[in-house]
Formats: sequence, structure tokens, C-alpha cells
Amino acid sequence: MRFLITGGAGFMGSNFVRYIVGKHSDAEILVYDKLTYAGRVENIEDILDGKRVRLVKGDICDEGQFQETVRDFKPDVVVNFAAETHVDRSINEPAPFLKTNVFGAFVVLETARKQDIPLIIHISTDEVYGDMEGKPPATEESPFKPSSPYSASKASGDLLAQSYHRTYGLPVIILRPSNNYGPYQFPEKLIPKTIIRALYGYSIPIYGRGDQVRDWLYVEDFARAVEIVIFKGKKGEAYNIPGFNEKTNLEVVKTILKAMNKPLSLIKHVEDRPGHDRRYAMRGDKILALGWKPKTPWEEGIRKTIEWYISNEWWWKPLLSDKYFSVETPWRR
Ligand SMILES: NC(=O)c1ccc[n+]([C@@H]2O[C@H](COP(=O)([O-])OP(=O)(O)OC[C@H]3O[C@@H](n4cnc5c(N)ncnc54)[C@H](O)[C@@H]3O)[C@@H](O)[C@H]2O)c1
Repeated sequence: MRFLITGGAGFMGSNFVRYIVGKHSDAEILVYDKLTYAGRVENIEDILDGKRVRLVKGDICDEGQFQETVRDFKPDVVVNFAAETHVDRSINEPAPFLKTNVFGAFVVLETARKQDIPLIIHISTDEVYGDMEGKPPATEESPFKPSSPYSASKASGDLLAQSYHRTYGLPVIILRPSNNYGPYQFPEKLIPKTIIRALYGYSIPIYGRGDQVRDWLYVEDFARAVEIVIFKGKKGEAYNIPGFNEKTNLEVVKTILKAMNKPLSLIKHVEDRPGHDRRYAMRGDKILALGWKPKTPWEEGIRKTIEWYISNEWWWKPLLSDKYFSVETPWRR
């Protein structure tokens, strides 16, 4: 089976590539990735062999290159992970988010339509439903109410995918995962940032009171959800992929500090992010009905993640420069 994986050098994409390589001996994988600051050859270089797993540097907004890549590779399935993903960056500079997450998503869908790709998996997010505080968890039919330029751009990509199914009968399936965590996540995100700062004994910035709730899912469990949907999912449908593991940001940080034997006094509350959603929450009836459920308990997932960052300093050390953290809450002490 031939997989074309856009954004396959990023956090979730690279974990998916690794999962498929280990699980499907007949898989041929082409990673198509722009290699932005978040996409790194280092994430997959140990499995790149130039035959079963190959990498093409390319932008999904470049219609010519993407169409040619698809024409040459003839994928059985395209999984579109490629996106700009960091909410804080989207607040500071929305344009790249609109380009990649809206126009880029369009290019992927349009190429699939023109070249009759048998299956497209479009990766959306739970953030499309907006703030769920005080509301019942979202079903796939819940209205979209995105709060940030990031989530608005993701909602647009998701809606485009829905319209391509309705209008052209495009064989697309949409996945809306909750917050993923695990190895190879860029250290601007909450969990790796907390682990790395704790290792240095630096303060851990936390937005507002830290009582915002997110639903955490171990990244390998998400890879398994993508696999199940590829083989058993219904074309034209959207599937929520929850972690069934809601935690406040403060709980997450405290769990990490305790597991690392670091003092809770490292926690430093900083001014909240504008438009910050207080809670994300989804029902998962449709994906559960396909026989999927998360396998990795939170305690095990967070322990594995901490161990991975401690053992893989080579991976994150080169990233600790101002260039990458210029839009961050203080990375340095
Ligand atoms: N991380 C999460 O918790 C989470 C939760 C819900 C949904 N998602 C969605 O899952 C997908 C993957 O997220 P992630 O956390 O792995 O992101 P990431 O930022 O780690 O990786 C994104 C990848 O996309 C690539 N990319 C960006 N723009 C591109 C372009 N124009 N053309 C080709 N490649 C491009 C980057 O180089 C990188 O490899 C995204 O669509 C994101 O919106 C993520």
C-alpha cells in the first residue's frame, strides 16, 4: 500500500510514519514536507531508506510540485498532516496559517479530485468546536466556533474537505484529534517545554490560573486511530478522536514536575493568552464503534514522554535558540 504523508516530518506525522513502517511490511511511504521550523529530517532520518520510506521537500501550497509528486507516486492514500500548528504564533502572525491550513488544504483536495486518489485522510482538530466550557462534549455534528486564527484556519480546511465530498464525491475522511503528546513534539508546546525547562531548573510559564482543560491523547494511539480509519472508516465522514483524559494545564505541569522530582515552585503564572479557550471536550462514539480506543494510560504516556526527552537531548538541544522561541513566553529564566 502506498502512503503519501504530508507533514510527515512533524510531530504527529513522523510518529504515524514510524507506526506504519513497524506495522505494515508492504507499506511504501512518501513524506511530502516543507520542513518548516517544526518539520525536521531528524524526526524520521533513522527510517528513511530511500526505498520504503522517502522524503520529498515540498510545500502543499505549490500546486505544480504537489500534483507532480502525486502523479509520480500514485498513492493509495494521502494523509494530510501538513499545517501550521502553534496557536501563539497564529496570534502573532496569522498569514502562514491561512496559506497552509486553508489554501494548502485546498491544493491537496483539488489534486486528489483531479487525479482520482482513492482515499484522503484530512487531519483537522478538536479546536474547530471552540470553547466547550459549560457545554456537553462535541459530537461530529456540533457547530464550529473557532477562537484563534489557527483554529479558524483549521475549521476552513475541514469545511473545504466536507464540501469536496458533498460536491464532487471526493473519498475524504476527516479526523478531529484532541491534544496529542509524546516523542518528537516541538518544544514550544506545553508538555515538552515543561520537561525541558524543568531539566534546566527554569521557571515554567503557565497561562493565567492554568485551569484551562485539554484532553490528552498519546500520539501512538492517534496513529492507530488513523490506521483504523484508513481500513474501516466511511468515506465522507468526520471522526472525533478524543483522549478521554481531560486535565487542567496546571495538573499536567504538576504531574510532570512530580515525576521529575522538581519543585512545584518552578511554576510561574503569566498573563493569559487572548481568546484562550477554557475547555476542549469531544464525544468519540463513532471512532469507538470502529473498535478503537486509547491504549496508553496517562501515567504511562507521560512517563514515556519524559524519558524520551531526557534520553534524546541531541534532538531538542539545537532548538533552544531565540530564533525559534521569539514569540514564546520567556524561554529563558
Ligand atoms: N499536536 C496536536 O496536539 C494536534 C491536535 C489536533 C490536531 N492537530 C493537527 O494535526 C496535524 C499535525 O500536527 P503536529 O502537531 O504534528 O504539527 P507540527 O507543527 O509538529 O508539524 C507540522 C508539519 O507540517 C509541515 N508543514 C507545514 N506547512 C507545510 C506546507 N505548507 N507544506 C508541506 N508541509 C508543511 C511542517 O514542516 C511539519 O513537518 C496538524 O494538521 C494539526 O493541526 C494537532
